[in-house]
Amino acid sequence: MQVNIPLKQQVDNSYDITIDTMQKVHFDKKVAIVTNPKVAGLHLAYLLSKISAKELYIITVPDGEEYKNQASIDLILESLFTHRFNRKSMLIAFGGGVIGDMTGYAASIYQRGIDFVQVPTTLLSQVDASVGGKTGINNAYGKNLIGAFHQPKAVFIDPYFLSTLPKREFGAGVAEIIKMAVTFNKDFFEFLEEADLHNQLVLQEAIKKAVETKADVVAKDEKEHGLRAALNYGHTFGHVIENETKYKTYLHGEAVAIGMVMANEMAVSLGFMTVKEAQKVKNLLEKYDLPTSYSIKNIHTFYETFFLDKKSLDASVTFIVPMGIGGVTITDKIDQKLVLSVLSTFGEN
Ligand code: NAD
Ligand code: GLY
Repeated sequence: MQVNIPLKQQVDNSYDITIDTMQKVHFDKKVAIVTNPKVAGLHLAYLLSKISAKELYIITVPDGEEYKNQASIDLILESLFTHRFNRKSMLIAFGGGVIGDMTGYAASIYQRGIDFVQVPTTLLSQVDASVGGKTGINNAYGKNLIGAFHQPKAVFIDPYFLSTLPKREFGAGVAEIIKMAVTFNKDFFEFLEEADLHNQLVLQEAIKKAVETKADVVAKDEKEHGLRAALNYGHTFGHVIENETKYKTYLHGEAVAIGMVMANEMAVSLGFMTVKEAQKVKNLLEKYDLPTSYSIKNIHTFYETFFLDKKSLDASVTFIVPMGIGGVTITDKIDQKLVLSVLSTFGEN
C-alpha cells in the first residue's frame, strides 16, 4: 500500500532589499530585535527611531563568532517563550553576519518557523550574509554545520551603520564584494577598479551591485544545488588558512582574500585565467589593504586540511575556479598534483 502526499505547490518567498537611509516602519505585531551589546550601544537608538511595533522587545546575545552557538539560540528562544511570542510574531536581526545567521536560525525553528527581517550593520553582512536565507550556527564539528534555509521577509541596508565600522571589518566586506564581481560580473569588476569605496555614494552603488549579483544567484539556485556554490570562491583555501591560524590572525574576509589569490593561481595553471587578470584581482584586493600572500609551512598538511571542511565531507574537494573575470567554474576534478603544485608557489622556501 502506498499513500502519496502531493507537495508540489510553489511558494512565493520573494522579498525586497532596500539600500538607503531607513524610513520609519511600523509592525502591527509582537517583534523582538535580536542584537549584541556593541551594536546596541552604537546604533539601537537610531533603529528605535525608525522602527516601532505593537509590542517591541530587545534580546541581546554576546558579541562574537564564538557565541554563534546553540547556547545563544537557547537564550533567544527562552526570551520568545517568556514573552509569549506566537507564530505571527517576528524577529529583527540587528547586527553583523553572526547576529543575522543566528536570528534567522532562531526564526526558522521557533514554533516551526516565524518571520524575520534583516537589518545588517557590517559591510560583509550588507553585501552577503543578510541576503539569500542561509541561517545557522557553529558547533564542535565546524562552522555553520547546523542551520536552515529561511528567507527573511525584507532586508533594510542602511549604509549609515558603516560609519562606525573598524577599517579591517570594512576591508573584509570589500573582499566579499570583489568575490561577487570576479565570479559573476565583469562590468562590476571594472567599476570597482575605478571606484573609491570610501566615497559614500560610490559605496552605496557597490553595495547595490553586489546585492543584485547575489540576489540573481540565489534566485537561480536558492538551496545551493550548483551555481550558488560559486559564492564560495576563495573559501576552500580561506577556510584552511583560518583553520591553520586558529581563527586569530585573519578576519574571515581577509582569509577569503588570500584564498581568492590562491584560486586564481589555480585558474592560471589551468589556463582559465591570464596572469594579467590574476594580477588585476590582486591589485584590487591590495587597494583595500587586504592580505594577498600567505606562507604555507607544509603543503601536504594544507592539502589534508581541505578534507576537514564541511563541503568536503566526502573524499573530494570542490574548488571554485574563476574563468577569467566575470565567469566561474565549480569542480571537484582537480588533480592532486596540480593542487600541490599551486600550493607550492605559496610554500616556504
Ligand atoms: P560579525 O557579525 O561578527 O561582526 C563583526 C564585528 O563588528 C562584531 O564585533 C560586531 O558586533 C561588530 N559590528 C557590527 N556592526 C557594527 C557597526 N556598524 N560598527 C561597529 N562594529 C560593528 O561578523 P560579520 O563579518 O558581519 O559576519 C560574519 C558572519 O557571517 C560569519 O559567522 C559567517 O559565517 C556569516 N556569513 C553568513 C553568510 C550567509 O549567507 N548567511 C554569508 C557570509 C558570512
Ligand atoms: N555566502 C555564500 C552564500 O550565501 O551562499
